Amino acid sequence: MTLRVGPARRIAFINEKGGTGKTTLAVNTAAWLAAKREKRVLLVDLDTQGHAAKSLGIDVRTVTTTAFDWLTRDDVSLQQVAQPTATVGLSVIPAYKQLAELPQVLSQDPHRGRRLARRLEGPEADAYDYIVFDGPPSLGLVTTNILVAATEVVIPVGVTYLSLDGCAEMVQTVERVASEFARPDLKVSLVVPTLYRKTALADEILAKLQEYFPDRCAAPVALNVAIDEAQSHGKTIWEYAPWSRGATLLQAVAESVERAGSAPARKTA
Ligand SMILES: Nc1ncnc2c1ncn2[C@@H]1O[C@H](COP(=O)(O)OP(=O)(O)OP(=O)(O)O)[C@@H](O)[C@H]1O
Ligand SMILES: [Mg+2]
Repeated sequence: MTLRVGPARRIAFINEKGGTGKTTLAVNTAAWLAAKREKRVLLVDLDTQGHAAKSLGIDVRTVTTTAFDWLTRDDVSLQQVAQPTATVGLSVIPAYKQLAELPQVLSQDPHRGRRLARRLEGPEADAYDYIVFDGPPSLGLVTTNILVAATEVVIPVGVTYLSLDGCAEMVQTVERVASEFARPDLKVSLVVPTLYRKTALADEILAKLQEYFPDRCAAPVALNVAIDEAQSHGKTIWEYAPWSRGATLLQAVAESVERAGSAPARKTA
């Protein structure tokens, strides 16, 4: 099956480990690209928790058309499912609990791993400069779909003892999907150390990450209360506390993500 990869940069924030900052970084990077770079950005939530849209102040419990409908029904268009947000230029496809049924619903589809990529073919998706995916804290069909649809992968890694293992496994997963789905261009473009607190152990772990990914490790994102508060208020850091230390930290991530990849050549896979 031939897939057409459109002109937008497609950036996946993934880590099978929970609570490593995937949603925080995906939402704020997407919002930064829209607000500060005036890009057209589509954020796709692919987690049953619905945190990406929640972080943007959308009550996902009341949304009638979600990522699940769009992924499973050809009559649901991107325009129907993408919602505008308070940030000009940023749209979001919300997800919620139904997404858990995706593997079952698509079980008979031999191309189920390419479903997301397929749904992003065409002029509606081509209208965006960036498509950002917020992944779930698990491996499985949804994560495979994200990797098949993405052109770049960002791995947020909590600076904790077990995180190094997890990060190495995520790199292997990306390589496996790239080979299985004939996507040789798919690469981990950036590793972002998150939830950083200055301790001897954290610095040891950070040094290891920098050693493993010498040219792909972003500056660490320290624990910062404004980052957590912004999410709890359903706002991006740029809306909630634009002059905070948290905003400076998240801006550095967004700039690293922006630099880390370049627009893909129009390729088929
Ligand atoms: N730098 C930070 N400082 C303080 N709190 C943070 C920071 N980064 C993330 N958090 C908080 O940590 C929690 C987990 O972050 P987040 O939701 O982004 O992780 P996740 O990887 O998306 O989680 P999940 O795996 O459940 O999807 C959230 O409450 C978030 O507000
Ligand atoms: Mg999340």
